[in-house]
Amino acid sequence: MSIIGLMACDANGVIGRDNKIPWLCEEDVSYFRNITLGKTLIVGRKTFDSLPQSLLNKRRFIILSRKTNASDSTNIFVNSLKKFTDLYKAVGHEAEPIYMIGGGEVADLFLQDNLVDEFILTIVNGSYYGNVRLNLGHFNKWYKNTVEVSEQFSRFRYVKPQTSRLL
Ligand SMILES: NC(=O)c1ccc[n+]([C@@H]2O[C@H](COP(=O)([O-])OP(=O)(O)OC[C@H]3O[C@@H](n4cnc5c(N)ncnc54)[C@H](OP(=O)(O)O)[C@@H]3O)[C@@H](O)[C@H]2O)c1
Repeated sequence: MSIIGLMACDANGVIGRDNKIPWLCEEDVSYFRNITLGKTLIVGRKTFDSLPQSLLNKRRFIILSRKTNASDSTNIFVNSLKKFTDLYKAVGHEAEPIYMIGGGEVADLFLQDNLVDEFILTIVNGSYYGNVRLNLGHFNKWYKNTVEVSEQFSRFRYVKPQTSRLL
């Protein structure tokens, strides 16, 4: 099992404004919906709170939060990265990858801690005002392949040269 980052940003790494995504790119939303259908997603509590109900269905969430603990039969809250890695190791026999979908704080945490193996990043055309960014410097030494280029965005797959600390 591996952890795959799946996010979108503008050319400057902007990913969010006022707990929303600053652009609407329907093609990218459809891509996100298709790739994550039936999968387990890791997410920060702020992003989790911002997701529409339609995205909460048919996906299982592991939510990082120091102050909320409302796990139910589908979604699990964890209050530290250590709790997450313990959980991950306990289900490590599962073949399906799990997706780390942000936001900025949680993406930084996972990338700094060498927990992500691969990252699918959609870079939307244009510049947007925002107060949350993804630090693109994390990918400086990663291998980069172009997945798709459209009128609205370019999508890349970054693969880390060394193995994740969980493998
Ligand atoms: N463009 C994209 O692809 C994309 C993807 C996702 C999100 N976004 C945007 O990003 C913004 C949200 O990002 P954000 O950086 O503000 O927040 P975030 O990463 O979604 O969530 C931050 C929260 O995660 C919890 N957390 C962080 N580190 C933790 C740790 N070590 N242990 C336990 N819990 C921890 C805390 O929750 P508590 O406060 O509950 O303790 C913290 O407040 C929104 O604007 C959203 O729309 C964009």
